[in-house]
Parts: sequence; structure tokens; C-alpha cells
Amino acid sequence: MKVTISVIKADTGSVGGHNRPSDAMVAKAKERVAEAIKSKLLIDGHVTFTGDDIALLMTHTRGTDNSDVHKFAWDTFVETTKVAKSQGLYGAGQDLLKDAFSGNVRGMGPGSAEMEIEERPAEPFIVFAGDKCGPGVFNHPLFSAHADPYHNAGLLLAPDMQAGFTFHIMDVNHTENDKVITLKVPNDYYDIACLLRDPNRYIIESVVENATGLTAAVASTSRLHNIAGKYVGKDDPVAIVRSQKQFPSTGEILSPWALAQFTLGDNRGSHHVAVMPVKQNTIISFFDGPTIMSAAGYCVHEGKLTEAVDLFDQPFWDVIREKASKKTLAMREQGFFNPAMGPQDEMEYTGVMENLKRLDAKFVKRDEPAK
Ligand code: 13P
Ligand code: 13P
Ligand code: MG
Ligand code: MG
Repeated sequence: MKVTISVIKADTGSVGGHNRPSDAMVAKAKERVAEAIKSKLLIDGHVTFTGDDIALLMTHTRGTDNSDVHKFAWDTFVETTKVAKSQGLYGAGQDLLKDAFSGNVRGMGPGSAEMEIEERPAEPFIVFAGDKCGPGVFNHPLFSAHADPYHNAGLLLAPDMQAGFTFHIMDVNHTENDKVITLKVPNDYYDIACLLRDPNRYIIESVVENATGLTAAVASTSRLHNIAGKYVGKDDPVAIVRSQKQFPSTGEILSPWALAQFTLGDNRGSHHVAVMPVKQNTIISFFDGPTIMSAAGYCVHEGKLTEAVDLFDQPFWDVIREKASKKTLAMREQGFFNPAMGPQDEMEYTGVMENLKRLDAKFVKRDEPAK
């Protein structure tokens, strides 16, 4: 059976700063998803939150970019915004950057990752959801899980995967339209590495298996800064990654997260910290961070979802959480000095740029030529 898996997420307000949505907001989203299942818009759905972002996981048969499904998600976030306002929550409606819905949530603030698949007899997949980071946070783990035998032993051991994977990579600085390059491993490995090393600009949009042409992974690519032209909150991306058989195993997909990679995000979206893999429903705390990533494993059959398995809720990840804390603290020791604070062109707040402009006028040029 052909099924579409859609994950659409947004920050529409949170309790106690940028921490977590209120119970009432989550209840409102769950109520609406239940109604949409009843009315047959959706086959199934789950509501989760990661930090201050609510994610709607939805299955249906309407294909990707379906305006009814996107409108449902948008209207749900309008409703959770109303709840947030009624409770005096912080940042109510934060990610709803446009006044009226116009067919698709892309370019309007909410992040979305969707794939239409022909269900395999067993269809395991993982939904990743991050808070306090940009979409480039998936560059390292998706590349490693699909291209690097250090993590994906299946590239050596499972004949199914040896033809490698195709990466669709977007240049998100090009805002007039989507600008995408298609490259394959193993042939284009170094070219892909050349792009992915800059996760603020070049971002993995999707991964496709070469042997079968099946979609292996999709990730959200929206950069709120590029939509709004100023800081309005961090992108806080989501990704859907299929696992097992012709794809990396679930463990291989999780393996790269043990790095606790440094990423740009955290406090005011402007600091480099280590990504902490967390249990579902983990809140935000130290320095409006750290940057967190949750992973929920599911199986889907005829569009019906199983319960989630909370993939980072396992003692192994306690060690990684401690490692992430230590790496974050090591970076935080140097405060505002780069690279603890992000580079100038990635400064999410306009304050630094305005200060530099003011100070530039006070610089004095010496008369003699520079030596
Ligand atoms: P199966 O042999 O059950 O497909 O499992 C392989 C595997 O997932 C190893 O990581
Ligand atoms: P969010 O994008 O998660 O709302 O974070 C915004 C922020 O600036 C935290 O300091
Ligand atoms: Mg927020
Ligand atoms: Mg957030």
C-alpha cells in the first residue's frame, strides 16, 4: 500500500521561556489529530514535543505537499497558539510567520519532512526532532549513517546496500527558489563532504537508495532566518529515516549521534554547543539549551502506526549525554569569543551587526599607507 508519512512541527509558545509547550497546547493538538483521523483526513497520527516545538506525525494517502494535510497542520498550530495566548505563554505563535495559509506550510515557518512510500511488509522508521538548532544538524548523522562504514557496517556486510546512496543537497542561502544538487556515494563522496562541511548553507534534503530508488530519509530544510530576514527563533528541524533490510539498521542510523557533534543553535540561536541525544519530552534548561535531539522509532502497516519506542531512552545514551554536557561546558567556558558564539554572517540577533556598524563610524583611518 502507498502511504505518506508527514511530520510537520512548529513552536507556537512555551512555558517558562523557550522550554516546552503547555499540557493544554499538547492536548489541543492531540484532540485535533484525533478528529482528523475520525474524519478520514488522516489514517493515523501522533503528537510529540521536543523542547518548545510540537511535532505532528501523520499518515495518510494524499501524497506529499498535500494542501489539506498542510492546512490541517497550520490550523492546528493556529489553535495551539490561541491556547498559548490564553495562558500568557512565551513566544505564542512564534513560528507562524505569515498571516494567512497559502497552500503549503513550506516558507511559512513550520518545518516539514514528508515521504510517500510503498510500504514494505515490515516498515520500521525513525522520526528525529531537534530543538535549538538549524537543519544542518542532520548533515553529519545522515551522511555518516548512509555513506560511512565506520557507522554503517551494512555497507560492507549487506549486499543490498553496496550500490550506495544518492544525496539531494539544498543551498538554503538561495531563497528565490529551491536550489538543489544531486550527488551519489561512493563516486561523489568528496564533493558531498565539501558541501556538507558547511551545515549552515548546504543541507541534506533527502537520501535515496541507489539500488532500488527507494527514499531512505527526508529532512526539513526551512531556515526561519532566511524566511523572516531576521531572528525569529531557531529552525528546530525534523527528519524521517527508514531502517533495516535495504536501509541502514536502526542502530547504524543512531550510531553517529554518539559523537555529540558541535552545532550552531542553543541560546538565542547563536552559539556552538554539542548536540545532546535526549528522551522524548525532554525540556530545555542550561543556557537556553543545550541543543537536543529526540528519536522515536515506529513501524507502520496500512498507514496505522505502532506505539513509539524512545530510542535515546537507553543507558548507553546517559554516557553520551554526559559527554555532550562536558563538550558544551568546554565551549561555554569561552563565552562570547568565536567559535563559542557563531560567526558574524550567522548572527541570529541583529544587535551585533548594529553595534559593529555604529563602531565602524568611530574607526579612525591613519594618513600613511598601510605597511
Ligand atoms: P536482521 O538480520 O534481523 O535484519 O537484523 C540485522 C540488523 O539489524 C543488525 O543491525
Ligand atoms: P526556539 O527557536 O526554540 O524558540 O529558541 C529560541 C531562542 O532564542 C532560545 O534562546
Ligand atoms: Mg521558542
Ligand atoms: Mg524550539
